[in-house]
Amino acid sequence: MPTTLTVNRRVVEVEAAPDTPLLYVLMNDLELQGPRFGCGLAQCGSCSVLVDGVETRSCVTPLERVAGKSITTLEGLSAWYAQQKKLATAPDLHPLQQAVIDEQAIQCGYCYNGLIVKGAELLSQNAQPTDQQIRTAMNGHLCRCGTYPRMMKAIQRAARTMAGGAA
Ligand code: FES
Ligand code: FES
Repeated sequence: MPTTLTVNRRVVEVEAAPDTPLLYVLMNDLELQGPRFGCGLAQCGSCSVLVDGVETRSCVTPLERVAGKSITTLEGLSAWYAQQKKLATAPDLHPLQQAVIDEQAIQCGYCYNGLIVKGAELLSQNAQPTDQQIRTAMNGHLCRCGTYPRMMKAIQRAARTMAGGAA
């Protein structure tokens, strides 16, 4: 029996065992390239997606747990943002994705799916996070390249952009 869920605002039916990790469904069945397999143990955050707006480690989330829910991956982040902000059209990129580019924050990029998804969740809950609040939010996301200071700047830049100020 297929499992129905919404992924990036598209209703999909997935033929997979109920205990299949959501990450496998996103990567293998739906061929999305945003979520990444890192540790497979909920330790690194590279597989993070939003489930009904809440950052979730898809590598340890069984498909049956997200039946009927709304999943947003990196690919759907700008549309999710536009929906939240009630914008007529979605920007090409979520402001945090743009800020990551502007700050040249990325090195190898492997961790950045998760960092951006988590940062977008933070900014949706707290439009002007303090440095400490950013550190706390990003605490569970590992970056082997050590780009944390640049990610901090990117989140700060995105917060300014979203507030309507100069980047
Ligand atoms: S791959 Fe899911 S937390 Fe590392
Ligand atoms: S940019 Fe390389 S692991 Fe984070």
